[in-house]
Amino acid sequence: MTVTAERSTPVLSHPNDRLRAARSGALLAVVGADTRVPLIDGTTRTYVNLDNAASAPALERVAARVNEVLPLYASVHRGAGYLSQVSTALYESSRQTIARFVGARQDDVAIITRNTTDALNLLAGCVPDGGLVLVLDLEHHANLLPWQRVAATVLPIQDTVAQTLAALTIELARVPYAMVATTGASNVTGEALPVEAVVRLAHDAGARVVVDGAQLVPHRGFSLAETGADYVAFSGHKTYAPFGAGALIGRRDWLDDAPAYLAGGGAVREVRPDRTLWTTVPARHEAGSPNVIGAIALAEACEALAALPAGALVAHEDALRTRLVEGLGAIDGVDVLHIWPDSVKPVGVVTFNVVGHDPGLVAAYLAAEHGIGVRDGRFCAHPLLARLGAPSGAVRASVGVGTESEAVERLICAVQAYITTGLTARYVVVDGCWAIADDPRPLIQVHGLLGLAAQAAACTSTSG
Ligand code: ALA
Repeated sequence: MTVTAERSTPVLSHPNDRLRAARSGALLAVVGADTRVPLIDGTTRTYVNLDNAASAPALERVAARVNEVLPLYASVHRGAGYLSQVSTALYESSRQTIARFVGARQDDVAIITRNTTDALNLLAGCVPDGGLVLVLDLEHHANLLPWQRVAATVLPIQDTVAQTLAALTIELARVPYAMVATTGASNVTGEALPVEAVVRLAHDAGARVVVDGAQLVPHRGFSLAETGADYVAFSGHKTYAPFGAGALIGRRDWLDDAPAYLAGGGAVREVRPDRTLWTTVPARHEAGSPNVIGAIALAEACEALAALPAGALVAHEDALRTRLVEGLGAIDGVDVLHIWPDSVKPVGVVTFNVVGHDPGLVAAYLAAEHGIGVRDGRFCAHPLLARLGAPSGAVRASVGVGTESEAVERLICAVQAYITTGLTARYVVVDGCWAIADDPRPLIQVHGLLGLAAQAAACTSTSG
């Protein structure tokens, strides 16, 4: 009997889903878009999530799909039961959907991982012995530290994209690298080198290319076949599918030749007390019970993004980014960080500082007094923050398919208010983080999750 993973009835009417999102100004509906959070003045406001680059909320469609398949969930690859076969079929068809979403070639393989970090660590263990890896100093630590463990040269970025590509060319001619590891979009500024140009230079020099797609794939889409890149890694939790799965997709030869990433069940053909015969990819690098629900959720998110009208994703996020850069940049005392003057099409990540103010304090203020969630710090990109003249960190706003233009306006107004009016509470540093002295908001440690929700609901509401 063959069990296929076809769906009988869709759980959501997807066009309506898009329509509902469109009415609110979002591109796709996300779970929790209407969640209200308490402010320190005793009111609540609809939460503004401008931290999509860290972790994006689940698409409603993804959450519905997870609910739909949970009753079908059973052991995968191992069980004789009917539901085990259903789960296995769902898992394997999800792998295909994920591979298709990033334009995998026929011979490429998709390995389900935990996230991008996991995927790049896996790949680092597959570079043939003695192979050197070239990486720029603008990378997220996930695309820097795994290579440092192997044998990485970290090339400093130059003042422009053109000069950086020239430096890359010179370095690739100087040393025979096995691989170039490059970001698809910086998690700090949204900028990147053009992937096709990096691929051309690397391939001309005999090196492969891996793209850290964590910030690119969910916001622009990506194709291995079109760019010619050899590998791409990305994360479900940044792709509106926060259920613990990510993926590494690309050429199978190195992956098949390398030691299994994890030693354990599922990765083997035959085990004797003194010797193990390992199986081939993808199972070779997926020891242990795989994350079936995570893979299904990620595949559903890929399908939702792939189904958007051509150009809609880029247009939506570009408009939000442009307004963020203009609005924040127009505020006296705000410095928006950029890597290069000649970057092309950065994704919706905007990092800034209020000059002379601790970014952690600004972020705490935005949360406590405006209900806005951003990230502050050095964003797991310490070398880049140092290069950008912000060694103590910055504040980052990042958008996604669920972001409405009102969210961006609220941030711009709040930063303006921070500068003109200032803080209305006393902020203190506790364990290295900014907090409100005598914070009146319900605390999870004190009230528990239910008490927190009840207290938030009981607060007086203000508009928006
Ligand atoms: N890599 C994630 C970020 O940039 C966590 O925020």
